[in-house]
Amino acid sequence: MCGIVGYTGPQQAGKILLEGLHLLEYRGYDSAGIAVLKDDKLKVIKKEGKVARLEEQLKKEDSLGNCGIAHTRWATHGKPSDANAHPHTGCDSDFAVIHNGIIENYAELKARLQKNGHYFTSETDTEVIAHMVEEAYQGDLYVAVRSVAQQLVGAYAIAVVSIHEPDKIVAVRQETPLLIGLGNKEKILASDPSALVKYTKKYWRLENGEMAVITPESAEAFVIASGEKIDKKIQEIDWDIDEAQRSGFDHYMRKEIDEQPEVIENTLRGRFAKDGTISLPEFDDVAETLRQARKINIVACGTSYHAGLVGKYLLENLCSIPVEADIASEFRYRNPLMGDKDVVLVISQSGETADTLAAVRLAKQKGVPVIGIVNVVNSSIAAECDAVTYLHAGPEIGVASTKAYVSQLVLLMLMALYLAQLRNVEFDASEIVADIPKLSGYASELLQQEQKIIQVAELMKNKGNCFFIGRLLDYAVVLEGALKLKEISYIHAEAKAAGELKHGALALVEDGTPIVTAVTQDSIRDKMHSSIMEVKARGGSIILVTDKPEQAQDIADTLIPIPKVSSYLSPILSIIPLQLLSYHAAVLRGNNPDRPRNLAKSVTVE
Ligand code: G6P
Repeated sequence: MCGIVGYTGPQQAGKILLEGLHLLEYRGYDSAGIAVLKDDKLKVIKKEGKVARLEEQLKKEDSLGNCGIAHTRWATHGKPSDANAHPHTGCDSDFAVIHNGIIENYAELKARLQKNGHYFTSETDTEVIAHMVEEAYQGDLYVAVRSVAQQLVGAYAIAVVSIHEPDKIVAVRQETPLLIGLGNKEKILASDPSALVKYTKKYWRLENGEMAVITPESAEAFVIASGEKIDKKIQEIDWDIDEAQRSGFDHYMRKEIDEQPEVIENTLRGRFAKDGTISLPEFDDVAETLRQARKINIVACGTSYHAGLVGKYLLENLCSIPVEADIASEFRYRNPLMGDKDVVLVISQSGETADTLAAVRLAKQKGVPVIGIVNVVNSSIAAECDAVTYLHAGPEIGVASTKAYVSQLVLLMLMALYLAQLRNVEFDASEIVADIPKLSGYASELLQQEQKIIQVAELMKNKGNCFFIGRLLDYAVVLEGALKLKEISYIHAEAKAAGELKHGALALVEDGTPIVTAVTQDSIRDKMHSSIMEVKARGGSIILVTDKPEQAQDIADTLIPIPKVSSYLSPILSIIPLQLLSYHAAVLRGNNPDRPRNLAKSVTVE
């Protein structure tokens, strides 16, 4: 769960590496560091804290050179500190190593190295790699790194440089992402394409068990186990650097909230016809499996799991197929009973979440077909699914997922309609089909309510505790709303199914406790209004998102109206004010919503 970047070519490596670290900082910001080769010397500069601190330090020190590696860390082994920051070197400063992942057998390796006289300066698992390369080196960095990689157990994307071969970077990949950018007379490696795109759009994606050796003029890939050379397929990045930058917004999260009308269009494009016909050719090969499926198991983490809860409701109600929704970290250990004709559907924005990837593997081990809804093309999860459909939401940088969630909901709706068509389930889809093309325009209208939402955020900014309540699809939405609020504003927010309130949480409601609620489901509207009255009677201050404001005038302290659409589609709209509320509460409290403490965008370790 760290970001790595490496450069070799004619330009100043330090400048390019620093830019790369800024773009990859969403992957971890406990510390940052850089190692650059110049005049047969390795200059390592590293600092606890954000990339900006490293940048300050770099201004004071000479980091010139044309080849180097850099890293932004999300701590696993060892606290955030200068010493634990990457790059790590061996006993002599001949080799420097950066690493994203976890070396599971590092304790055993470290003990062996210590016995051989190696002296360690950090608490990290990564440092063993530097000492191992140092020990293994006999004149060929590729040979040394390959032999070290064969001894490592765990997940890793690693890059190594050495003073002995000063324009070369050797990289290996097992489980965590690593791309090799193939520029003209320059090569750049990184954890994701945003750090490559300014320099080249052509890249290789290293697969598990592969390694690469790059110099300005050459790039070669090999199988780690056999040493066999691989003829890698060149892939092309199809978006621009501008798309990955903030376009004038203060934060990526706010920009990504703003992109949602466009993202809705992008997700629908080519898939939804006005007569309701759904085209998902990426599922052609699994169509028969889906037609015959007896049960679907949705598996995901975080926000993607919350999208999965909406998906469960849609698939069960519209396709009459039983659906279980599981948190991936539970699914992989709970020994799920899956039988013949079960299908697993994984949902992941990044396509790299370790627990979700493990769930894919578990299902496949049990012979269960796996389909995926993923945003990042060619990510690890996408590569391992039997069939995958992409969100087309564009790069999401803000740690708190927004546009990917909305896009997931849109795609889940399309999947529900597709499955219903495939399985000949008849129901009246006319309202849904008529409303789908309106969603993007309605989402734009909701963004116009920002001033009102800022006022609500003002009211909430000094609260320590609040509840989110809802029923049915509104419950799924408030789970996501509460997650958004807590992760970036640090206000404790708990989502409850409204009917469950009186079984405990009601005891915590007192005068002025904010109660955020969504009421869009006609079938339980009256019951929701009763639940709201229960909390209001105990002093709760009601912030109500509803598509029928005229029916809620008397019960809400603050009313946030949303356009009326089919109740199956309302989550796509009702989440937008809740995202804005969280964003503004975070900003008003002085937090950076793009960098919530202790969290990272892409959780590639367990
Ligand atoms: C992290 C991110 C969340 C995301 C979750 C699952 O916790 O901060 O925004 O929902 O991982 O990630 P995925 O990429 O699999 O959707």
